[in-house]
Amino acid sequence: MAFKIKDSVTWVGKIDWELRRFHGEELSTHKGTTYNSYLVKGEKTALIDTVWLPFAGEYVKNLKNVIDLKDIDYIVANHAEIDHSGALGELLREIPGTPVYCTAAGVKSLKGHFHQDWNFRPVKTGDRLDLGGNELIFVEARMLHWPDSMFCYLTGENILFSNDAFGQHYASEHMYNDLVDQDELYREAVKYYANILTPFSQLVTAKINELTALNLPVELICPSHGIIWRKEPLQIVHKYLKWAADYRENQVTVIYDTMWDGTRRAAEAIVSGIKSANETVNIKLYNAARSDINDIVTEVFKSKVIVVGSPTINKVMLHSIAALLEMIKGLQFKQKKAAAFGCYGWSGEAVKLIAEKLEDAGLEVAHAGLKMLWNPDESALTAAVELGKEIGKLAAAES
Ligand code: FEO
Repeated sequence: MAFKIKDSVTWVGKIDWELRRFHGEELSTHKGTTYNSYLVKGEKTALIDTVWLPFAGEYVKNLKNVIDLKDIDYIVANHAEIDHSGALGELLREIPGTPVYCTAAGVKSLKGHFHQDWNFRPVKTGDRLDLGGNELIFVEARMLHWPDSMFCYLTGENILFSNDAFGQHYASEHMYNDLVDQDELYREAVKYYANILTPFSQLVTAKINELTALNLPVELICPSHGIIWRKEPLQIVHKYLKWAADYRENQVTVIYDTMWDGTRRAAEAIVSGIKSANETVNIKLYNAARSDINDIVTEVFKSKVIVVGSPTINKVMLHSIAALLEMIKGLQFKQKKAAAFGCYGWSGEAVKLIAEKLEDAGLEVAHAGLKMLWNPDESALTAAVELGKEIGKLAAAES
């Protein structure tokens, strides 16, 4: 499959309908993904990014139907992560010596992955590559989301090739933002931001401001995953500015794991308390062991307050909650409040440990925590409702 997106630009990537886990098993991709690769033809021809390694053979074969590989003058590797660089080896076996344009950090990363001394041409922000008429202008995008990440802009056609930024793990035959289900598109876009870009939010804001200051016309934003932003392409840039500004919706998320239903019953009592004290706040409730961890992370991203519960087992918390808290710590969420709860039979460490981990992750623990001995009785459930009421009022007070 290949399709023209402009007179001089053809999409030559791969739609991966089957993908359900990404970054090993770390990230769920309910809607598959795409690996976008773009062929830019002028007097000179440049190929921007490739596809993930398992599709390298299929990709090169497909590319040969679009162009004689010997006519590719330059390869641009905006990012060394192998979902984009995975076909470089196969390609460069066919056209050895073709220059590979990437950042200096990209040279290190590509050498680290492939252990090949390809014809690297390191570039910096502002460097240009003349294609005969139109030019590619390179913009380093350090830590968005790897040290080597880079954007490039095609003059004349006014296209920003943004690599991972503004992308989504979203397979679609249509490939343009105006042709797909908007709810699905934005569900995947915000999940992508929450799970991958949150730790780099300050850099996101700075990079967007840097690009905006250049006053370049942008007709298309072509990321390396998901659809191409064609209709009002800057809408996703405006969303990123909002998401990067310690984003919160009017939402509380209660997350628990449970062994014999005690902590689950408490979680439901907390939810009823939140509702009785705050009728307008969105309330989400998840059993962490039975839900997708990346979907929960996306709900945490949207929340003002989270409430996290686990019974104590072997003096610690259940592992689904430990894993979630580890992920939350890595993502460095800001401006969020939290509380802990859980049942216990004898030693009862989990609530204190959850609170410590929440604090360590940068959340403000706004309640002493609720420990319930054995399976909660009526008075313990009343205490859980009271905790919920306090959380509901806290959410109302948080603008
Ligand atoms: Fe889509 Fe950072 O690779």
